[in-house]
Amino acid sequence: MKDTDINPIFWQDSALVLLDQRRLPAEEVWLRCTQVSEVVAAIQNMVVRGAPAIGLAGAYGMVFAATAAWRHAGAQWRTAWLPEVAALRHARPTAVNLAWAVDLMAQHAVGIHGAPAAPLLAQAQRIHAEDLAANHRMGLLGAALLGPASRVMTHCNAGALATAGHGTALGVIRDGHAAGKIREVFATETRPWLQGARLTAWELARAGIPVRLITDGSAAHVLRTQGVSWVIVGADRVAANGDVANKIGTYALAIAARAHGTRFMVVAPCSTIDLATAHGEDIVIEERPATEITTIGERAYAPAGVGAFNPVFDVTPAALIDVLVTERGVLHHPDRGALESLLRPL
Ligand code: MRU
Repeated sequence: MKDTDINPIFWQDSALVLLDQRRLPAEEVWLRCTQVSEVVAAIQNMVVRGAPAIGLAGAYGMVFAATAAWRHAGAQWRTAWLPEVAALRHARPTAVNLAWAVDLMAQHAVGIHGAPAAPLLAQAQRIHAEDLAANHRMGLLGAALLGPASRVMTHCNAGALATAGHGTALGVIRDGHAAGKIREVFATETRPWLQGARLTAWELARAGIPVRLITDGSAAHVLRTQGVSWVIVGADRVAANGDVANKIGTYALAIAARAHGTRFMVVAPCSTIDLATAHGEDIVIEERPATEITTIGERAYAPAGVGAFNPVFDVTPAALIDVLVTERGVLHHPDRGALESLLRPL
């Protein structure tokens, strides 16, 4: 099967349809959203996840916000929609793609005369198509860096499910595999939501790409013993100095990769680069409920009442990143100057 078969987000009959990622791989269940509160809940509850994908959900959510505001306030809709815009923009804090997409939609709204739904829907669909095109471009650019018969490692899920399709890190792996360069992928299970075990393994197996799951704790051992040439991950936000926020555990992987001479590749579209955030330490790291760690499913594993700390992203310093792949080109050892010129208007 081709990755284009995975289309986790689409618009149909005035509704945003989302593949419920909490239920994968056991079942493919689709959720229909027709109002902003449902989109916010879907983002917060991980129905839709991954930085570009929550950006797309936010963009379509803006269509619902505008439609409701136009119904209630007519020509004053741009004032009436502000609370729902804020709710969407802040549904999750770390991935900048959400705020980026909401802001782009709000800017587009400024020039609209009359009913806003159709022009905003067209804008959301443009953002959607551009994300897919960016992933295909990054896939080819990143795959060109791989050597023959590569063993690679990836973390979390930066695949078709996390984007408009194809994926960022998994886009590179897909194109590397198509070019005959991938011998094997090690996918970390990615506690506590198991995006690696549930989603990355599902995507790669579907695409016929050899994959073996590993526990998060075994990553350094695998890098030392299994001849892995690249760790390839996505990103939730790239700060102006090149520091990268991504799924918790990415930082430890980057340290382990450097210690073992394994190269470290971050694959992210320009929508993930945030020049307004100077350093990684300025990025807000989402913390989720302790029960995500103390329980598995319905069952509690930790002693009753035990405390837990559950940050779900971390920051990898730019110095540990060998390559940042974007749709506009590849940056070796990304830094402020390179990122600023990358984003300069074409
Ligand atoms: O909590 P999640 O599943 O939304 O976290 C996702 C990640 O950290 C991904 O690596 C990142 O968003 C890049 S997806 C192309």
